Amino acid sequence: MKRLMLISAAILLTASWMAPSSMAEEVIGNPDKGRVIFESGVGDNVPACAGCHGTGGLGADDMGTPRLAYQVQKYIWKQLEDFASDKRMDNTMYQMNDIAKALSEEQRRDVSAYVHSLRTPFLGSDLDQMIADGEEVGVGYKGQIIVEHGIPSRGIPACMSCHGFHGRSAGYIFPAIGGQRYVYLKHELEALRLGATTKSSVDDAARDNDPMAMMRNVAVRLTDADIANVSAFLTATKATTVGNPGAPAR
Ligand code: HEC
Ligand code: HEC
Repeated sequence: MKRLMLISAAILLTASWMAPSSMAEEVIGNPDKGRVIFESGVGDNVPACAGCHGTGGLGADDMGTPRLAYQVQKYIWKQLEDFASDKRMDNTMYQMNDIAKALSEEQRRDVSAYVHSLRTPFLGSDLDQMIADGEEVGVGYKGQIIVEHGIPSRGIPACMSCHGFHGRSAGYIFPAIGGQRYVYLKHELEALRLGATTKSSVDDAARDNDPMAMMRNVAVRLTDADIANVSAFLTATKATTVGNPGAPAR
């Protein structure tokens, strides 16, 4: 009897462990073909993604590149389509637009399937090291308040209402922002804030490819300090948490 109970407990545990992935949307594309693009590039026009985004897809603060590992496939795919059609301008290294254009539609899909599948352990940007290097960084606990509760008096919604708990993504069009690189988070929030008042076709430091200006409407209300604070909190949060090992699942 005791053994039977143990076995059924084990089955229950397994079922709940598997639940997030069985609810996940199907990954579209061929991650194996995507891996070759990521690691080796394509011909003369597409350098290896790993050269700038890191071998494990974790991004790098000194280059301003984002973590791609774990990221929602649909989101990555959309960004590559947006770079390819100049709906989003790479205003950090000015290379993503040419890179995305040089890939076929199928290759953009395959490489997004691959980076989504990467499960490289991630600990966030090393803020202590940045401070030691003399950089000013935001204050995490102040950012946490905004991520969890927003600032209602200034019309700022809680980030987690769209991006999921601690920014680990709500799937579909909502990217994971938890565990993202500090420098990249800050840069994107500034670009989206600028995108609320100007067009990226006019000012290439702006970003305005978010659906229905959903993100621009939030970013435009943030001060420089808010941006630094949410970025400091978000970089240190994990993409996965106990009880939800598969997130972001989509
Ligand atoms: C020369 C360096 C470089 C290479 C090579 C490179 N990237 Fe990037 N990538 C960047 C930078 C810098 C950004 C940030 C752009 C910005 O600031 O808007 C970026 C942004 C992105 C984003 C947006 C992510 C997000 O969270 O919105 C995606 C997706 C992406 N790159 C995919 C790729 C893929 C796939 C490849 C390989 C085919 C690749 N990159 C190769 C530098 C590079
Ligand atoms: C109403 C929903 C909504 C809310 C609330 C929201 N976001 Fe977003 N956010 C989005 C969407 C949608 C995107 C994806 C834009 C795209 O597809 O290009 C996004 C994109 C982003 C990005 C760019 C991610 C990347 O990888 O480039 C960052 C950073 C971000 N949001 C941070 C925040 C922060 C911080 C807050 C809270 C202050 C917040 N968001 C609140 C909807 C929202």
